[in-house]
Amino acid sequence: MLTIGSIQLDSPALLAPMAGHTDLPFRLLCRSIGGVGLASTDLLNVHSLLRGSPKALALAATAPGDEPLCMQLYGNEHDPLPDAARWAVNNGADVIDINMGCPVDKVAKKHGGSLLLCDVDSTVRLAERIVEAITPSTGKPVTAKIRLGWDDDRIVGPPLARALEQVGIAAVTVHGRTTEQFFKGRACLQGIKAVVDAVDAIPVIGNGDIEVAADAQHMMDVTGCDGVMIARGALRRPWVFHQIHGVLTEGVAVPEPTFKTKVEYLLRHLELIMEHLDERNALHRMRSGIAKFARTMGHVKPLKEGIRTANSSAEIERVLRFWHAKACDGWTPNPILEGKAADARTRDLTTA
Ligand SMILES: Cc1cc2nc3c(=O)[nH]c(=O)nc-3n(C[C@H](O)[C@H](O)[C@H](O)COP(=O)(O)O)c2cc1C
Repeated sequence: MLTIGSIQLDSPALLAPMAGHTDLPFRLLCRSIGGVGLASTDLLNVHSLLRGSPKALALAATAPGDEPLCMQLYGNEHDPLPDAARWAVNNGADVIDINMGCPVDKVAKKHGGSLLLCDVDSTVRLAERIVEAITPSTGKPVTAKIRLGWDDDRIVGPPLARALEQVGIAAVTVHGRTTEQFFKGRACLQGIKAVVDAVDAIPVIGNGDIEVAADAQHMMDVTGCDGVMIARGALRRPWVFHQIHGVLTEGVAVPEPTFKTKVEYLLRHLELIMEHLDERNALHRMRSGIAKFARTMGHVKPLKEGIRTANSSAEIERVLRFWHAKACDGWTPNPILEGKAADARTRDLTTA
């Protein structure tokens, strides 16, 4: 069982922070399907949070059922990260994560995110200040999410993780790429293993390119990591946590949901967005999300078009109910070639 500080997780599969995606409705959707050990907010700007900016507060919003929750903060040693961490704990965070891996200019140019990988000593001092502000008084763990290093010549993952452990960081998540790589190539499992080998006792969560349960199993087998974190794969397969939990915790292969069930997940997502956000978000999130989600659905161009061109949440709901009714009548789309490799890996597990 994966334990982060004082928090025992029910599943070793964690939903990654993803700016623009891991809002409350999406977290609740994944949790409702099952298998999410811990879910994170998008990265939060500490100044906006402490100022009470409505946008930052919306990103940090939580609700019953959204536990255990990790709030991810970004900034550098000059920013009020300890104060923001206290704010987060007072507003529902069970875990505070420090972003040390974001490669985008908006964050890294402000000396946060990945730039923290470039000066290990000052990053470790910053982490120590945040831990001291939080853990002794509240018992809540502070974690860090890192990449392997800035580039191949500056790999700092192993010594950084070890030093973070020594100042009280309760777990490290490592995305097996460098900052320079951005999302290119494949996540390096040997790089993740080196981080696992470097720490004494804290859990290491492996991250990168997990699409189906077999990928999670493979990453854990090769690296010895204690848990896995999934980002992009969850946008296509929010049920992947349920499947990973099934295989890793219960030794049960959970089959791929049917087309009808997938439409039900879309309906549930829409309902959660309308409950916790608003009409504008419903249109934006459903229209932009459908391309990724539908990749696992087969040939469903008319369904995608119906959602993309809808002018209201009610219209999206009508489109989805139409396809749901067809599915109830036994209709299923033809499979598509895209995603075939991942489907095959899922089948391997299902029939194993
Ligand atoms: C759209 C998008 C937004 C992201 N936002 C964040 C973020 O806010 N904080 C963070 O630590 N990582 C962020 N990431 C990185 C992911 O958490 C993860 O480390 C990376 O995508 C690799 O995992 P994956 O292969 O499962 O996608 C983001 C990734 C994507 C694709």
